[in-house]
Amino acid sequence: MIVLGIESSCDETGVAIYSGEKGLLAHQLYSQIALHAQYGGVVPELASRDHIRKLPLLVNAAIEEAGINFSDLEGIAFTRGPGLIGALMVAATYAQGLGLALNIPILGVNHMEAHLMAVMLEERKPEYPFVTLLVSGGHTQLVLVKAFGEYELLGESLDDAVGEAFDKTAKIMGLPYPGGPELAKLAQEGDASRYEFPRPMLNRPGLEFSFSGIKTKALLTIENATKADYPDIAAGFQEALVDTLIQKSLRALKQTGATELVVSGGVGANKHLRAELRRLAETLGFNVYFPRAEFCTDNGAMVAYLGYERLSRGEVSTEVKLKARWPIDQVSQYIESE
Ligand code: KG4
Ligand code: ZN
Repeated sequence: MIVLGIESSCDETGVAIYSGEKGLLAHQLYSQIALHAQYGGVVPELASRDHIRKLPLLVNAAIEEAGINFSDLEGIAFTRGPGLIGALMVAATYAQGLGLALNIPILGVNHMEAHLMAVMLEERKPEYPFVTLLVSGGHTQLVLVKAFGEYELLGESLDDAVGEAFDKTAKIMGLPYPGGPELAKLAQEGDASRYEFPRPMLNRPGLEFSFSGIKTKALLTIENATKADYPDIAAGFQEALVDTLIQKSLRALKQTGATELVVSGGVGANKHLRAELRRLAETLGFNVYFPRAEFCTDNGAMVAYLGYERLSRGEVSTEVKLKARWPIDQVSQYIESE
C-alpha cells in the first residue's frame, strides 16, 4: 500500500509518501518559523493561511520526489488532532477532496501517536513492549507501548510541557522563536554547574512532571543576571530539565520492567538529552532509540507511516471530526462517529 501523509497541526506543513514495500518514498517539509518569529509565537490564523498556500505545492513536490503518479496513491492520512483546529482543517479538507477525487480511503491520525511511532522509520527500532518519553511543545508524557496501538499513560506534566518551559525561558532571554533549539545552542557554551536549578518532582514517587517552578526560578535568575551569564544559565536550566526527564524515564523502565526506551517529539532532538541517555543506556544496560532529529520535530513522514499502518489494517475515517485535544490512550477508536 502507498500512503500519502499530511501534517498541519501547528506551524509546520509536512507531506510524505510511505510505501509498505519500499519504505519512505518522499518527505517534504515547509516550516513557518520565519512567519511567526516576528510575533514571538504561533499566530493560529496566519498558520492556517500559510498551510493553505503551501500544502498543494508540497504534495506535488512529494509525488515528483517519489517518482509516482497521483493514481498510484492507495490511501491518505492526515493529522486529526491534537492541534490548532484551523490549521488541522487544512490537511483534513485537502485529504477529503483528494480522497474523493482518487476514490481512495482517508484516515485522521493522532499527532502524538505519530510522534511516538516515528522511530519505526529508522533502521534501529525498539521491540514491544517499550516505554516512550513523548516530549514536545504541548506534551510531556511517559507512555507504555504494549503493542501497536496499545498505550498506557504512565505519567505526564501537571502544568507546562517541557518544550514550553524551554521556549518560555528562551523568550525571557530574548532568544528568537522557537526558543528551545536556540537555548540548547546557547547552553553548549555555558557552564552547567554555576547555577543551581531544582529537579522538580524527583523527591516524590510517581511519574508525573511539573515544570512551572523551574521556569519561575529561571525567570528570577535571568532578572538578576547580565547577558554574559546567559550561557551558564541556559546550561544549568537545560541540565535540570534533561536530568528530570531522564530520572523519570529510568523510573518508568523500572516500574514496568521494560528494557527499551524511545524518545520522541521536538525536545527529543535535544543533543544533550540524546547524549546523556546513550551514555546511561550503556552503563545501566537498557536500549534507547530516537527518531533522526528531523523526525523528532513535526513532519509528514510520521503521519504517512502511522497512516500506512492503520489504513493497511482496514481503518478509515468516514467523516472528519477534528480534535483540539485527543489523549494518547484514546486513539484506538478510528471508525467512529463521536
Ligand atoms: O514536536 P514539536 O515539533 O511540535 C509539537 O508537537 O509541539 O515540538 C516542538 C517543541 C518546541 O517547544 C521546541 O522548542 C522544542 O520542541 N525543541 C527543542 C529542541 N528542538 C525542538 N527543545 C530543546 N532542544 C532542542 N534541540
Ligand atoms: Zn508535534
